Amino acid sequence: MASEGRESIAIYPGSFDPLTNGHLDLIARGARLFRNLIVAVLKNTQKQPLFSVDERLGMMREVCCAFGNVEVDSFDGLLVDYAARRDATAILRGIRAISDYEIELQMAHVNRRLRPETETIFLLASEEYAFVSSRMIKEIIMLGGDVSQFVPAPVLERLRAKVTR
Ligand code: PNS
Repeated sequence: MASEGRESIAIYPGSFDPLTNGHLDLIARGARLFRNLIVAVLKNTQKQPLFSVDERLGMMREVCCAFGNVEVDSFDGLLVDYAARRDATAILRGIRAISDYEIELQMAHVNRRLRPETETIFLLASEEYAFVSSRMIKEIIMLGGDVSQFVPAPVLERLRAKVTR
């Protein structure tokens, strides 16, 4: 049935520290493919984040309220357990370059072993965002550069506030 894909719930998980225009492009495309898309921020990561989980949720909600079928949430523990709790049948991930592929392949295989009911769906990053990463954006802003073309306005505002503090 043509509408089958639209019946499903997908999770787009990540660190989103911070959300970039590349993430936003994937959210917009995912929102067209799935009935509901849950953008889920990982809590308790070992990485030292620039923004707290609450700060990230705040700006992501501001950006994602433009989409009627997108929810922003956070999770900890295993992604597949969170997917099960949320009745999600798909995990959405973006691939920018071949360097992303190896780690994504490993994660997708592990998640499939842990919960075969959840399929990982990959979308190729749009060409204009293929080089954009949260890590690069943090480096540029910390070194005094302009990141306005890489992040949504609410994120830019918070980034500027962080560096001028
Ligand atoms: O934006 P990131 O840092 O590439 O996202 C990585 C993320 C959050 C998708 C991944 O680290 C994750 O799913 N962590 C939850 C723990 C888990 O389920 N681990 C087993 C599968 S790798």
